[in-house]
Amino acid sequence: MTSLIEAAHAQSDRTISFRRTLHQHPELGLDLPVTRKAVLEEISDLGLTIRLSESTSAVVAELEGASDGPTMILRGDMDALPLREDTGLPFASKVDGVMHACGHDTHVAMLAGAARLLAARRDELAGRVLFFFQPGEEGHHGARYALEEGLLDADPVAGAFALHITSQYTSGTINLRPGPILAAADDFRVVFTGRGGHASAPHNANDPIPAACELVTTLQVALSRRVSVFDPAVLTVGQITAGTTSNIIPATAEIRGTIRTLSEESREDVIQRLRTVAEGVAAAHELSVEVEVVPGYPVTVNDPTFAESVRETTTSLLGAERVAHIDEPLMGAEDFSYVLQRYPGTMAFLGAAPDGTDPEQAAPNHSNLVVFNEAALATGVAVYAAVALDHLHP
Ligand code: NI
Repeated sequence: MTSLIEAAHAQSDRTISFRRTLHQHPELGLDLPVTRKAVLEEISDLGLTIRLSESTSAVVAELEGASDGPTMILRGDMDALPLREDTGLPFASKVDGVMHACGHDTHVAMLAGAARLLAARRDELAGRVLFFFQPGEEGHHGARYALEEGLLDADPVAGAFALHITSQYTSGTINLRPGPILAAADDFRVVFTGRGGHASAPHNANDPIPAACELVTTLQVALSRRVSVFDPAVLTVGQITAGTTSNIIPATAEIRGTIRTLSEESREDVIQRLRTVAEGVAAAHELSVEVEVVPGYPVTVNDPTFAESVRETTTSLLGAERVAHIDEPLMGAEDFSYVLQRYPGTMAFLGAAPDGTDPEQAAPNHSNLVVFNEAALATGVAVYAAVALDHLHP
């Protein structure tokens, strides 16, 4: 295993330079022509079979092992975020208003690095590895499109694995937990419609504002009384819109918010409660109501057996002091969840806090100031490769 680490370090200049190229040319969403071209060039000498998505910029590169066996899926997402970089790095974004602020540039570079390591170790692989370069993670459901297109079809599949870099864990550490690791995130919108009128004569109108206020408080009570504390759920109203001035009763009130849950059961339960409460409040106030739920990503659930195998692999690769258990799931969301609904697997976080910075104080992912420690990239490359090798040993 030491040799894997050494090999990852030996090619780390290449990994870092590829990452910097990607960092300067970030792209948004599902259509990433520049990134796709760079990926195809970077892996062109490795003898991989390439599958290209026809509807997105996804690239699936297949490495055939020396003998037969199952398939391992390794994912790196490729898209950036719509914000203006303010890090002052010499290789900062050259695209105004677009930045690799979630570190997906590092994921692409690490996955390409792992492809290089594993291509040189074809003899040690019984089965095949699919390197899944995925666009559209930031809210565009890129993984779902790839699954629907059949790009990740294989049988049998040993598992699926993804790393996510974060500036908020110690550099070079692997951090994971079995079971739910990231939340489901769904948005909602409720519109109450009554009858507008003069503020001095509410009995001649039908005011939706008290109903909107009641909805907010009743939802919090409903959540705390009706949803198990052992399966946590967060519902936050982030926006209330009603009225134009102080002496007019408006005809409508709109309430928007987000729901975060850690199981499909509580996800469905909370959405149902939202509908029930909104309809009940509307009925009590003789208003009409419209409830719209915009589904986001499902819960990201690490298969306990696979997560344990990743813990063992990374412990023997890096030492126990560099592998940490995450106590509580994070309430962010990830579309690798779609892959983990289809295949057993695991997502783990790679720490990359800048040198000399307290990880908890570091500018976080999605900040225009976030900086990732590039010394962690060799670790990520070796971890991707080691997880595949451990599941596909002859
Ligand atoms: Ni991300």
